[in-house]
Amino acid sequence: MHILQIISSSRGAASQSTQLSQGIIDKLLAAHPGGQVVVRDLAADPLPYLEEAHLQAYFTPAEGRSPEQQAAVRHSDEAIAQIMAADVLVIGVPFYNFSVPASLKSWLDHLTRAGITFRYTPTGPEGLITGKKVYVAIASGGIYSEGPMQAYDFVAPYLRWMLSFLGMTDVTIARAEGLKLPEFQENAMQKGLDSVLV
Ligand SMILES: Cc1cc2nc3c(=O)[nH]c(=O)nc-3n(C[C@H](O)[C@H](O)[C@H](O)COP(=O)(O)O)c2cc1C
Repeated sequence: MHILQIISSSRGAASQSTQLSQGIIDKLLAAHPGGQVVVRDLAADPLPYLEEAHLQAYFTPAEGRSPEQQAAVRHSDEAIAQIMAADVLVIGVPFYNFSVPASLKSWLDHLTRAGITFRYTPTGPEGLITGKKVYVAIASGGIYSEGPMQAYDFVAPYLRWMLSFLGMTDVTIARAEGLKLPEFQENAMQKGLDSVLV
């Protein structure tokens, strides 16, 4: 089993989304001894925001690309190759202002390539990154799985849609939530981890 771990928190070892991801990976490795983990840290090694050179490169055939376009498309090609090589993705996501960190959005922007990771068909879009199992490990100060703040969760619905658009429909969401709420914070991590059956 090849596991790709995506880190998007900037908090290093203190990150609770990374700790939840690690707990999920430990469970996966216990169930599949010999599994291999590749780590992509988007906070330490961020992808650039999409600029004109990236977009031009996407729509220029490889043999016609300028040196600048060749360099621009490399980020996307590498991110796509990394995901294609994995069987399982474990994506750590901190809630930042009700949505995902910009580094994670940027990674998704570089992954989303017409004709390579999705295509349009007469019956609608078709994702081309298929056969992956995805775990999304979300850390948040508040509670979003239920209650009055549920309507303001722009993390899980966005990621579910974006991943399925790209072909990844087998998605398990785990939450360490209420991390800033005294009555929830003590058990939040364990509850998130226990929700994941591998
Ligand atoms: C810039 C920033 C924005 C945040 N926005 C939210 C938010 O909108 N909702 C929430 O519940 N928690 C929010 N938090 C709290 C974090 O989600 C929480 O601390 C979580 O543990 C961060 O994940 P990490 O430990 O992996 O970095 C925010 C924290 C930071 C630093």
